[in-house]
Amino acid sequence: MKIVSVVGARPNFVKMAPVHKALVGSGIEHMIVHTGQHYDYEMSDVFFSDFGLPKPDIYLDVGSGSSCFQIGEIIKRLENTLIWANADLVLVYGDTNSTLAGAICSDKCKIKLGHVEAGLRSYDSAMPEENNRIMTDHLSDYLFAPTRNAVTNLRNEKITGRVFYTGDLSVEIINRIKVISKQSKILDTLDLKSRSYLLLTMHRAENTNLREYFIQLLKAFESLGDNTIVFPIHPRTKKMFKTFGLLDRLLKCSNVKLLLPSGYIDFIALLQNASKVVTDSGGIQKEAYLLKIPCITMRNNTEWVETMKGRWNVLTGVNSKNIVNAIRSPSPTSQYNKSVFGSGRTSKVIYELISSINTTNKKGK
Ligand code: UD1
Repeated sequence: MKIVSVVGARPNFVKMAPVHKALVGSGIEHMIVHTGQHYDYEMSDVFFSDFGLPKPDIYLDVGSGSSCFQIGEIIKRLENTLIWANADLVLVYGDTNSTLAGAICSDKCKIKLGHVEAGLRSYDSAMPEENNRIMTDHLSDYLFAPTRNAVTNLRNEKITGRVFYTGDLSVEIINRIKVISKQSKILDTLDLKSRSYLLLTMHRAENTNLREYFIQLLKAFESLGDNTIVFPIHPRTKKMFKTFGLLDRLLKCSNVKLLLPSGYIDFIALLQNASKVVTDSGGIQKEAYLLKIPCITMRNNTEWVETMKGRWNVLTGVNSKNIVNAIRSPSPTSQYNKSVFGSGRTSKVIYELISSINTTNKKGK
């Protein structure tokens, strides 16, 4: 059996890593196509080295641009690769532009499609990722759902592909990386002590397109002068601080330690030693939960509803007062249920499902 994974952005690389290991370890031919959506060393290569992944077999070099540009260009450049590869199955991961482009292209090339992390919904159509995941799910033949809630979402949408509950890959990823990250030197390099700082990330398009949200974030930084805030800044966010003329005000916040985006091992070291994390990322909400770090999510909704029980994850939007209140509130102590994300053998489950399904007949579309 031959499988092609189409990946292009940070969260795709993270999810593919354990699946790659499970497939290759069982003798399946696995080809990695990197779209080039993320291309900086800190956004791409460092993930391949942190996870011990081989270099991608094919690099499409699409680069930055609007969603239409990225999706269109990936489809154009991927078509010949998929035809030439003659794979039995294409795998896509999560909800990025690379995910949707991989899904459309495999549909058009009549190759069966599996979606890893299927069925997540925020029910917020202003998020580009929400529309990417809905379209990808509806094009998929095999849907690997990480939570029971995701399975229910898919059933409610009367999806035509086959839905499987697999648990979430984060459990095995975090179990492995939290041990490795003990060797990270990032805390020493930044002169930080465990639990002495907050970790913050913000990059979502719907948050970074509005100047007012940057003002809210700066107000929060300014009122938290007594807290050290570690902020690995996403290229999009940095660019928008400049565009909105707010970079100088950010640089004046002496309590904020600005970093380049971190590799995965360093990031998990920062996360597991933080007192709390403030973020608008999807994956970090779940990783924080698995590491028992209280999370403050700068959104009005979340697809990871499981993390909200017991106030391990609190939604604040990008509102300075709400963010500061949540930071100053006591940390949760109870109502924790790690098993909501499965047993930690999701990559094996996905491998077993893939090897048991009949992917030899191409779709008769
Ligand atoms: C993408 C995903 C998002 C994921 C995030 C993780 C979509 C719609 N969004 O968002 O789901 O959580 O990745 O980071 O696919 N840039 C660089 N260097 C890079 C990559 C990007 O400078 O290596 C800059 C470019 O100016 C680019 C901007 O960042 O235009 C945004 O990148 P893009 O790939 O469009 O989306 P992300 O915000 O990274």
